[in-house]
Amino acid sequence: QVSWKLADHPTLPKGKTLALIVLDGWGEDKPDEYNCIHVAQTPTMDSLKQGAPEKWRLIRAHGKAVGLPTEDDMGNSEVGHNALGAGRIFAQGAKLVDIALASGKIYEGEGFKYISECFEKGTLHLIGLLSDGGVHSRLDQLQLLLKGASERGAKRIRVHILTDGRDVLDGSSVGFVETLESDLAKLRENGVDAQIASGGGRMYVTMDRYENDWDVVKRGWDAQVRGEAPHKFTNAVEAVKKLRENANDQYLPPFVIVDENEKAVGPIEDGDAVVTFNFRADRMVMLAKALEYQDFDKFDRVKVPKIRYAGMLQYDGELKLPGRYLVSPPEIDRTSGEYLVHNGVRTFACSETVKFGHVTFFWNGNRSGYFNPEMEEYVEIPSDVGITFNVQPKMKALEIGEKARDAILSRKFDQVRVNIPNGDMVGHTGDIQATVVACKAADEAVKMIIDAIEQVGGIYVVTADHGNAEDMVKRNKSGQPLYDKSGKLQILTSHTCQPVSFRNMHISSFTVIIT
Ligand code: 3PG
Ligand code: CO
Repeated sequence: QVSWKLADHPTLPKGKTLALIVLDGWGEDKPDEYNCIHVAQTPTMDSLKQGAPEKWRLIRAHGKAVGLPTEDDMGNSEVGHNALGAGRIFAQGAKLVDIALASGKIYEGEGFKYISECFEKGTLHLIGLLSDGGVHSRLDQLQLLLKGASERGAKRIRVHILTDGRDVLDGSSVGFVETLESDLAKLRENGVDAQIASGGGRMYVTMDRYENDWDVVKRGWDAQVRGEAPHKFTNAVEAVKKLRENANDQYLPPFVIVDENEKAVGPIEDGDAVVTFNFRADRMVMLAKALEYQDFDKFDRVKVPKIRYAGMLQYDGELKLPGRYLVSPPEIDRTSGEYLVHNGVRTFACSETVKFGHVTFFWNGNRSGYFNPEMEEYVEIPSDVGITFNVQPKMKALEIGEKARDAILSRKFDQVRVNIPNGDMVGHTGDIQATVVACKAADEAVKMIIDAIEQVGGIYVVTADHGNAEDMVKRNKSGQPLYDKSGKLQILTSHTCQPVSFRNMHISSFTVIIT
């Protein structure tokens, strides 16, 4: 048993309150009109940078530095918060799935054996994000899984797609569906009955997170399990093209694919196998609960088929959910939060719902709940529901700032940890003006927290998990903004590969990776 005892820090003063501020989606990039952080008034962040350059560093937040497969992989909140919270780099879900698929080990594990017992009589359903963004899932992994499962006896396969436009360009869904359709056609040539069965945009169908809005999961359930949706099509490419006339990829309404008799081609039935092929947890765990729990009261499931269900990964290490999975998740142990409770350091953590799990669940190594509720307090501020965040770009930044301020001034906590979501959540909408407002609000929240820290003579660290708001356009190799065929600027809704800043009051005491 390795000791939990931490030695005193060589230079950091003891007994001071530490504010740990994570600005979500706040990268560093050259100043131009598409850098919303630059355009916005951010006097607090500016003064942290300019006032004390020796205490300000850039750190990498993408690619191998955070455990992602390649240097082309942009950072994301899961890997960013895992790395910050654990203080170590773990091979992440994306990479672990790549390795398991390449070696074929994925097909030898308990999870695959469990589902494959349905292949003889039942259908294999694959549900997940159809994208090559590499944040929640990857198209090439789905392609390999389709091939591998059909080679190992799956005779009837139904894919339930969720369109992206958030980790990839809006509009790219059409191409992804075309690619998938041509793969499924090849499977059909080889005698496998394989089809797309349902779909919808990820932010409107299935991929809610942290129980912000169960209706999102219900809409998916109705289409995937019950075969019911407001829109019916006989062809998925046509479905996506048509529905895009009134919504973008992220928000496409749910649809089902029907046969010539208007009958849904792939509802989930007794005896079927289901795999959720996203490797990332936060936006799959709600569906995993609906698929796995006997007692479930979040919405009326109407039909609860007897299925064999496995996740691509186990999404929650504490809840052991789902119980069956194809690839073992990274074992993120001995995180900073666990060390703190063992050393009598009291923690306060806070964000609004859409990022709450980032500073708790992800921070603690994909583990829900407290390590020790007597030493920790986690506060969730309810997010606005049913809107896109460009409509309310200030989100709950000031409320988070107030809660953190009060926690600092109460002197009841040694570490006060927050995630300020604005740059990321509004950046993902692709609305440049709103993102500028978002960045200003985030800056005001930082000020509120730092003022409180100064009042109690504490210390602070301000950093970010990955970039987003600092670049809102797609660019060519030389950095020029790109336009589509109709001359429209290509908006970048996704994260970036930019470094993030790391500012603290005692920089010499920290090890940082300088880009
Ligand atoms: C999302 O889930 O909203 C995006 O795919 C990634 O954003 P996050 O990593 O900042 O949460
Ligand atoms: Co994001």
